[in-house]
This record gives sequence, structure tokens and C-alpha cells, in this order.
Amino acid sequence: MKTTISVIKADTGSIGGHNRPSDAMVTKAKDRVAEALKTGLLSDARVTFTGDDIALLMIHGKGTDHPDIHKFAWDTFVETTKIAKSQGLYGAGQDLLKDAFSGNVRGMGPGSAEMEIEERTAEPFVVFAGDKCGPGVFNYPLFAGFADPYHNAGLLLAPEMHTGFTFTIMDVNHTEHDKVITLRVPEDYYDICTLLRDPNRYIIEKVVENATGLIASVASTSRLHNIAGKYVGKDDPVAIVRTQKQFPSTGEILSPWALAHYTLGDNRGSHHVAVMPVKQNSIISFFDGPTVMSAAGYCVHEGKLTEAVDYFDQPFWDYIREKATKKTLMIREQGFFNPAMGPQDEMEYTGVMENLKRLDAKFVARK
Ligand code: 13P
Ligand code: 13P
Ligand code: MG
Ligand code: MG
Repeated sequence: MKTTISVIKADTGSIGGHNRPSDAMVTKAKDRVAEALKTGLLSDARVTFTGDDIALLMIHGKGTDHPDIHKFAWDTFVETTKIAKSQGLYGAGQDLLKDAFSGNVRGMGPGSAEMEIEERTAEPFVVFAGDKCGPGVFNYPLFAGFADPYHNAGLLLAPEMHTGFTFTIMDVNHTEHDKVITLRVPEDYYDICTLLRDPNRYIIEKVVENATGLIASVASTSRLHNIAGKYVGKDDPVAIVRTQKQFPSTGEILSPWALAHYTLGDNRGSHHVAVMPVKQNSIISFFDGPTVMSAAGYCVHEGKLTEAVDYFDQPFWDYIREKATKKTLMIREQGFFNPAMGPQDEMEYTGVMENLKRLDAKFVARK
């Protein structure tokens, strides 16, 4: 049976600063989803939040990029924006960058990751949702989880995986149209590393298994500052990963998150901090961060979802959270000095550039 898994998320306003959506907003999204289940638009769905972003996980049979599904998500975010405005919340409608919906949320602000699959007998998958980070946050953990036997022991132990995976990587600095490259591990291992080392520019969009040609993972690739031409909030990406049998086990996909890798995001989208794995529906606090990532596992069967297993809500990750806190505090000691603050061309606010221009006029040439 063909099933589509769509995750579309947006920041449409939050309590405090950029901390969490209100209960009324989440209830509104849930009510709309309940309606869509009744009309048959969706066969199942879940509404969650990560920091100030609401994520809609939608199961349906319409395929990816379907205008009805995208319109449903857009209209839901328009409704949650109305509630945010009525409650006087901060950043109401933050990620809705266009006035009128035009068939697909891509390029309009919300992040989306979608895959159409032929359901396996058992179809386990993980939904990752991040806040205070760009889509490059997935470069390290997706690459390590699929291509590195230090994490994906299945590359050595499971014969189906021995021929590796194919990565589609997008150059997100190219804004006129999508610019992508397709590379395979193990053959193109070092070429992939060469690109993924720059997670602000080269971003994993999709992973496909070489042996079967089956889609294994998709991630959202939108960069809000490319759409808006200025800083309007961080991208706060989502990703879907299928696991088990011909794919890495769930544990292999979660394993790289134990590094608590540094990423660009956090306060004003402009600082390097360590990614903290958190449970679903977690809030934002220290320094408008830290950058957080939730991971929810499901099985989907005949279009119906099980309850979620909230992977980072388990004692092992308490230690990793502590490690992430320590790593973040260490780099925060360095304040605004690079690389604690991000590089100039990634500065999300225009202040640094404007100051540099003003100062440049005062520089004198020494003969
Ligand atoms: P199964 O043999 O049950 O697929 O489990 C393997 C596994 O996931 C161990 O990590
Ligand atoms: P969000 O993108 O999550 O709204 O965060 C914006 C920000 O600048 C926090 O300091
Ligand atoms: Mg926000
Ligand atoms: Mg956010």
C-alpha cells in the first residue's frame, strides 16, 4: 500500500520570546487535524511542538507536494497565527513569509519533509524536529547514521546495506532554482565529506538505499533568509528517517546525536552551540536556546500511526544533555569572538554588516 508521510512545520508565534507556542494554538492545530481526519483528507496525524515551532505529521495517500495537503498545513498555520495575534504572542505569523498561498509551502516559510513509500510489513520511522538551527544540523548525524560504520554497524553486519547509500545534497546558496548533486557511499565518500563539512551551504536533502533504490530519509532544506532576503528567524528543520531491516536500525540513526555536535543557531540564529537532544514538546530557554532536537518514532500501518516513542526521553540522554550544556557553556565563554558567533556571511542580523560599512569609511590607508 502506498502511503505518504508529510511533516510540515512553522513558527507562527510564541509565549515569552521565541520559546513555545501557546496551548490555544496547539489545540487549534489539533482541532483542524481532527476535522481533516473526518473529511478523509488525512488517514492519521499528530501535532507536536519543538521550541516555538509547531509540527504537523500527516499521513495520507496523495503523494508528496500535493496542493490539498500543503493548503491544509498553510491554512492551519494561518489559523494558529490568528490565535497568536489575539493572545498578543511574540512573532505571530513569523514563518508565513508570503501573503497568499500558491500551491506549495516550499519557498513560503514553513519547512517540509515528505516521502511516499510502499508500506513494508512493519514500517518504523523517526521524525526529527529541531529548533534554533539551520537544515545543516542534519549533515553530521544523517551522514554518520547512514555512511559511517562507527554508528551504522549494519553496513558491516547486514548484507543488504553493504552497497551503501546515495545522498542528494543541495547547494542552498543558489537561490534561483534548486541546485543538487547526487553522490554515493562508499564510492564518493570523500567528495561527500568535502561538501558536508560546510553545513551552512551544502545540505542533505535525501538519502536512498543503493541495494533496493528505496527512499530512506528526507529533510527540509528551506533557508528563511534566502526566501525573505533578511533575518526572519531560524529555519528550524525537520527530517524523516525510515529504520530497521534494509535500513539502519533506529539505534544506529540515534547514535550520532550522542556527540551533541556544534551547529549554527541559538540566540539570533548567529551562534555556535551544541545540539541538545530533548523530548517532544520541549521549550527554549538559555540564550534563546540551546539548539534542541526531538526524535519521535512511529510505525505506520495501512495509513494509521501508532503512539509515539519519544526517543530522547530516556535516561541515557540525560548525560548527553549535560554534555551538550557543558559544550555550549564552554563556547559561550568566548562571547562574540568567532567561532562562538558565526562567520560574517552567516550573520543573520544586518547590524554587523552595517557597522563594518560605517567603520570601513573611517579606515585610512597608510602609505
Ligand atoms: P532485528 O534483528 O529485530 O531487526 O533487530 C536488529 C536491530 O535492530 C539491532 O539493532
Ligand atoms: P526562531 O527562528 O526559533 O523564531 O528563533 C529566532 C531567534 O532569533 C531566537 O533568538
Ligand atoms: Mg520564533
Ligand atoms: Mg523556531
